[in-house]
Amino acid sequence: MPHRTPMNPPAAVIILAAGQGTRMRSSTPKVLHTLAGRSLLGHVAHVAAELNPQHLVAVVGHEAERVSAHLAELEVPISAARQTEQRGTGDAVRAALQSLPTLEGTVVVLNGDAPLLTPETLRQLIDEHGDNAATVLTALVPNPTGMGRIVRDATGALNAIVEERDADDTQRAIHEVNSGVFAFDARKLQATLGKLTTDNAQNQEYLTDVIALLRAANEPVGALQAHDYRETLGCNDRAELSILAGLLRDRLNERWMRAGVTMIDPATIWLDVTVELAPDVILEPGVQLKGVTRVESGAIVGPDSTLVDTTVAAQARVVRSHCVGARVGPSAEVGPFAYLRPQTDLGKDTKAGAFVEVKNATVGEGSKVPHLTYVGDATIGVHSNIGASSVFVNYDGVDKHHTTIGDHCRTGSDTMFVAPVTIGDGAYTAAGTVITIDVPPGALAVARAPQRNLEGWVQKRRAGSAAALAAARATQHISGEK
Ligand code: UD1
Ligand code: CA
Repeated sequence: MPHRTPMNPPAAVIILAAGQGTRMRSSTPKVLHTLAGRSLLGHVAHVAAELNPQHLVAVVGHEAERVSAHLAELEVPISAARQTEQRGTGDAVRAALQSLPTLEGTVVVLNGDAPLLTPETLRQLIDEHGDNAATVLTALVPNPTGMGRIVRDATGALNAIVEERDADDTQRAIHEVNSGVFAFDARKLQATLGKLTTDNAQNQEYLTDVIALLRAANEPVGALQAHDYRETLGCNDRAELSILAGLLRDRLNERWMRAGVTMIDPATIWLDVTVELAPDVILEPGVQLKGVTRVESGAIVGPDSTLVDTTVAAQARVVRSHCVGARVGPSAEVGPFAYLRPQTDLGKDTKAGAFVEVKNATVGEGSKVPHLTYVGDATIGVHSNIGASSVFVNYDGVDKHHTTIGDHCRTGSDTMFVAPVTIGDGAYTAAGTVITIDVPPGALAVARAPQRNLEGWVQKRRAGSAAALAAARATQHISGEK
């Protein structure tokens, strides 16, 4: 087959996003609901940007300010066109065109609530469009309820799009529907929009009527049926949102598995589109990776872990843990049941073990915090060990203070480091110590009351209790042995 000339970038892509989305029953506009860490509108804008259009514009109306502010935050250059009143999809496209200079070439229209469309399908549509006046992306769906039906003539050519509420029984039986995605010739679109009426069940100016109007004017119109109707699915309520989320999850997971990531149970693994994984990463069941999370080769995450904006270096292991804004070094071990908070930086071969919380702390190479400990606002040197059940007492009720632990330290179980405090290299602390003053290198710090044993206290003060009887038996046994 001869190689196709590369597609001409469209003059404009218009994304319709002025509607409220009543059925979402939400204070958040529908197009701002998210899937895989990106808004519905963000997904559509990213796909549109792949076509390199000269202009990319979203039509905003309901909560226009909020949606416009969101557009400004997207990583793609996109402008907002205001539709003051939602008078239909035809009126929405007109609002977009009015915000742009006069266009020549192809104008693509997308729906802001259909986030699964792929750039490949869009490119096929533009290819198919060629010199047509209009080309619609259609889909053969199991349930066409609520959708515009694709009405073809006896030769199979596209005749019109008829909205559900305006359709007769024969038309309603059609399962080929309008996806809401179109390619238009800019000038012909502009001219035909002027001919739209509101003579329909919803008293709106339907963009879909442009097709029949162009046909009547003997202009060439076409239709491309999507290979997979699921790409064209929109979202009207939260049940549909969850269906789209599942489809996108499957698509992303399949892509990562084909890139060399092992997923034991991909149905339980939820990745944001912004996540990056290296080959030979293993994700156990029940893993969520969000934001700018990166996992490097040979690392194992899960089961049951959530990582947000977290970096996991090669060969590290994160088990049943929650990590936000953390860095996990090469071959480090985290969890089970660890909570790593922002500015946690675990070095190579480190450990933050069971029921350990770390915040704003650097843990040097080979150092370990194995059990039941809070490390907040601290610097721990290399090859030190923090005893079980210790607390870095960083907060005096007003300010946060820093604790510094040197290299090769051994701190005893249940040490309280009352910050600000410094433990010198090679120093030890005794179990149960409350550190309030700096410990010089190599010293053993002991700060606890000496132990007293009050002999016979239980038999005297708890006479007749099970404890007292047990104590009596033990005492007899000991004296009987003599
Ligand atoms: C529309 C199509 C229908 C298609 C379906 C696909 C029309 C008349 N009908 O129906 O053929 O099968 O999409 O999902 O086009 N919008 C505006 N301004 C408006 C009206 C709508 O920006 O004045 C936006 C909405 O926010 C939405 C999109 O246009 O993103 C589609 O509008 P909607 O009301 O959802 O149309 P449907 O009835 O679903
Ligand atoms: Ca809709």
